[in-house]
Amino acid sequence: MTQGYRQNYAAAINDPAAFWLTNSADVQWQNPPQTALDESRAPLYSWFPDGTLNLTVSALDRHVAAGRGEQTALIYDSAMLGTVQKYSYAELLAQVEKFAGVLRDRGVSTGDRVLIYLPMIPQAVVAMLACARLGAVHSVVFGGFAPKELASRIDDATPVAVITASGGIEPSRRIEYLPAVAEALDRSQGSVRDVIVAHREGFEHALAEYSQRPETWSDWDELASRATAAAAVPVPSTHPLYVLYTSGTTGAPKGVVRDTGGYATALTYSMKAIFDVRPGDTMFTASDVGWVVGHSYIVYAPLLAGATTVLYEGKPVGTPDAGVFGRIIEQHRVTTMFTAPTALRAIRRADPQGELWASHDLSSLRALFVAGERLDPDTYHYAANLLNIPVVDNWWQTESGWPIAANPLGLDDLDRKPGSPSTPVPGFNVQIRDAVGEPVEQGIEGNIVIQLPLPPGALTTLWGNDQRFIDTYLSQLEGFYLTGDSGFFDQDGYLFVMGRTDDVINVSGHRLSTGAMEQVLSAHPAVAECAVIGVNDRLKGQRPVGYVVLKSGAEIDEVTLRSELVAMMREHIGAVADFREVSVVAALPKTRSGKILRKTMRQIADGKEFQIPSTIEDASVIDELIPLLRTTN
Ligand code: COA
Ligand code: AMP
Repeated sequence: MTQGYRQNYAAAINDPAAFWLTNSADVQWQNPPQTALDESRAPLYSWFPDGTLNLTVSALDRHVAAGRGEQTALIYDSAMLGTVQKYSYAELLAQVEKFAGVLRDRGVSTGDRVLIYLPMIPQAVVAMLACARLGAVHSVVFGGFAPKELASRIDDATPVAVITASGGIEPSRRIEYLPAVAEALDRSQGSVRDVIVAHREGFEHALAEYSQRPETWSDWDELASRATAAAAVPVPSTHPLYVLYTSGTTGAPKGVVRDTGGYATALTYSMKAIFDVRPGDTMFTASDVGWVVGHSYIVYAPLLAGATTVLYEGKPVGTPDAGVFGRIIEQHRVTTMFTAPTALRAIRRADPQGELWASHDLSSLRALFVAGERLDPDTYHYAANLLNIPVVDNWWQTESGWPIAANPLGLDDLDRKPGSPSTPVPGFNVQIRDAVGEPVEQGIEGNIVIQLPLPPGALTTLWGNDQRFIDTYLSQLEGFYLTGDSGFFDQDGYLFVMGRTDDVINVSGHRLSTGAMEQVLSAHPAVAECAVIGVNDRLKGQRPVGYVVLKSGAEIDEVTLRSELVAMMREHIGAVADFREVSVVAALPKTRSGKILRKTMRQIADGKEFQIPSTIEDASVIDELIPLLRTTN
């Protein structure tokens, strides 16, 4: 390793207060912080307790004031519509000020929550930033989640307003958001006063149908035509910028809370140290604003850095073909791209030689960042050979907000090792511990933990539930945050992340809970018990597979049951669950204490070596299941 990375890493670990206070100066504060870290509530920490700021000032106003108002801030590229729309920094600022005015006029104020349920359209970016402008806390929900999931988030975050659109466009169908929002509101407790609807051409938008409801449903443009611009409201650095729900072991989603000043500092640092993105560069992150990658690297970080961000509505393949990313790179002169391994695998399957990409001028592209799930070496080589630029695997999570391990291109171009996201990022003291919390030797797999305090930008708590935050992440090993991933360090200090240690699975880079899926299956009247496991999938990384045991006397044929269970999953979790396979089995393997042996089932399904625990209740159950499990791959 060379100096830049080493120096940064050592400085951030040896004197985090000085390191982060220095880096906080790259953000524009109303009152710059004098104190770096508040430890008075450990293990709950907060960064820059005496700083105040409004993040949108650093992301928008500052660039306009510096004379770069005409530079493009946002490019909306819709492969679904075949259109491109550009917004300069001055235009985006004006839209954000105006929509913040709309929210203010509807009574939204600092600290109120606002739920955003939108497809990948510019209003999603404007709505997020408008909330930030007022100090309102946004909670964006991915469009692929069903009304029931939306309702559980509404009940937890108790938003005063929902911002949605008249429709979304998927290759296979149109998504009707309004009935979904109405259903979610019917299922929830009634905190929402306002529903604001962005109109999309081609979608009938009969707001009159909703006029009898308890909430006021209004049209975005109509409200905007009457609103005046809202000024930025300075908030304490520790003020929540957003709550982003993510899946955990249990069914109930966890509301990850992000602060304002720490996040702004961390993202700004990440753009310099990891992504090497400078003012005027163009970043194209092919994710969705509903995920953390979208929050951080479609919306906030590129704008904080004064770069241009591409908001892409479409898929990596089929809209219209596997060359679409190449087209976008060429057309918008993209310098930095970010995508998920699944997207690269889908492209590779459709275009094994990469001819469609190669037919475009890719000369502007300096680096491709890849995250969301493990980047398998085959996919790494495909992308690296095709593009002949650094392909940077980076490992992180909704909770961390920015990469925990990555090749820090802005500091040093370290050697790359396929299968590893390289080394820990400055600020993250990453260690590997065994089941009882003892350090393990190099090369041995164990739980990946991070020494507290986590650096700026990482979650500060779970919404409304400090105790759940402590119980979920901090109580297993004193002084450490448990990532939920397992892995090991090699002899060169490179981290290899091997997979989750809990019931979280990653389907096409979408984080889902098998626990939540099991809750859905067990609600079927014929199902006595069930297990859902994530099995390896060549395209999607993992896919969920269900196994159900029927209640005695249940009279239902398997085909009907299967289609009912698949439909229930779609209705309760959403299309994003991608749940298509379920089998009826005579029994599930369990320990004597009644715990289903999901890990053993997963190992068998993945064709891995497995050991049957000595505590198994009835070993013959697993013998009977082996042939079925083996056919899943
Ligand atoms: N709104 C509503 N529904 C959505 C949706 C959204 N925003 N996104 C996906 N869905 C639906 C799809 O329409 C599909 O529904 P269907 O079963 O009716 O066809 C279902 O969810 C599964 O979709 P998807 O995950 O896109 O699978 P796919 O087989 O259609 O496509 C890939 C496969 C690989 C092309 C796709 O998964 C992909 O683009 N993956 C990359 C994801 C990514 O970038 N993740 C980044 C996270 S950091
Ligand atoms: P999410 O919170 O949706 O970003 O998902 C986080 C989880 O995705 C992590 O805990 C990992 O299990 C997995 N993940 C994300 N990026 C990587 C990566 N580069 N390598 C391995 N696993 C990853």
